[in-house]
Amino acid sequence: MPETDSDAPQPALTHDGAAALLRWYVEMGCDVAIGNAPVNAYELTAKLPPRPPADTKPAGAQEREPTRPAAPAGPPTSAVLRPDANTPTADEAVVLATTIAAQANSIDALETTVMAFDGCPLKRGARKTVFGVGVQSAPLLVLGEAPGQDEDRTGVPFVGKAGHLLDRMLSAIGRSREENAYISNAIYWRPPGNRAPNDMEMAICRPFVERLITLSKPTVLVVTGGTALKAVLGKTGIMKTRGKWQTLTIPGPDGQPLEIPVMPTFHPAYLLRNPEAKRLVWQDLQMIRARLDQGK
Ligand code: URA
Repeated sequence: MPETDSDAPQPALTHDGAAALLRWYVEMGCDVAIGNAPVNAYELTAKLPPRPPADTKPAGAQEREPTRPAAPAGPPTSAVLRPDANTPTADEAVVLATTIAAQANSIDALETTVMAFDGCPLKRGARKTVFGVGVQSAPLLVLGEAPGQDEDRTGVPFVGKAGHLLDRMLSAIGRSREENAYISNAIYWRPPGNRAPNDMEMAICRPFVERLITLSKPTVLVVTGGTALKAVLGKTGIMKTRGKWQTLTIPGPDGQPLEIPVMPTFHPAYLLRNPEAKRLVWQDLQMIRARLDQGK
C-alpha cells in the first residue's frame, strides 16, 4: 500500500463523501458536537478525581440486559469531562445532589432542582435535561435507563421507538402518561453515543431518583432494564430478577420509612430487539395491573 503523506493537500470532500463521513461518525457514536477541538482522553488521566468508593466503581462485568453498548474502557467520563478544579468530584456531586434533592418538596421543585444541577458530567455533552413526563404522583411510576437521541432532542422521556412500545405496554393495562402514570429515568442526561451509564453517573443521579419516588409515593414502581434496577435497588441481574416483586425502603416525606413495591421488567428497547421476551413482560404487566387494581 502506498504511504499516506499527511501534509499533502487532501482532496475536497464531495457532497456524498461528506454525508458518508457524517453517517460513519453517527454510527461510531459521535453524534453530538461538544467542542471545536478534538480531546485526547488518555492525556487527561492526570486530572482524574480521587477514586470513587468501591461501591461506585465504574460499571464492568455485571450482568446486564443488553439494551446499550457497555461503557468503553479508558478513563471514566468524569475524568474526560472534568475540565478544571471548580468542577465537583463525583463524591462532592453526590453530597450536593443529596442535599438539594432533600430540599425539594414537590415534583415540580425537584424538576427545577435537577434542571439547575451541574454536578453530573453527562450534562456537558447533552442538549437537554430529561426529567419526567406524565401525571405527577400517579399510582404507577415507571423508570427507564437514560435519555436517547430523541429524548435528548425533545427533553421528554421515552419518545422514540422504545417509548412507543412502552406506551403500548402501559395501554395494555389501562395506563398512560396522559392519565395515570408518570415516567422518568435513572439518568437525566444522554450518555454520549448511547453508551450505558456508569456507576458514578448513576450514583450522582440517585438522590434525585430516590426523592422522586418519595414525593410520588407510587402504588407500584416499575423499573425497566438492568440500569434502572441497579440504580433503584442496587441489584444486578435483570434476567433473574424480572417478574419478581421487590421492596424498596426509603424515607417517606415525613421521614418515616416508606415501603414501595417494585416490579423489575425488561426494557422496551430490549424487547424491540428480542420480541420473544414480550411473552414474559406480558406476565409482569398482569402482575402490575393486579397490584394497581388492589390499590396497595
Ligand atoms: N430509553 C430509556 O431508558 N429512557 C428514555 O427516556 C428513552 C429510552
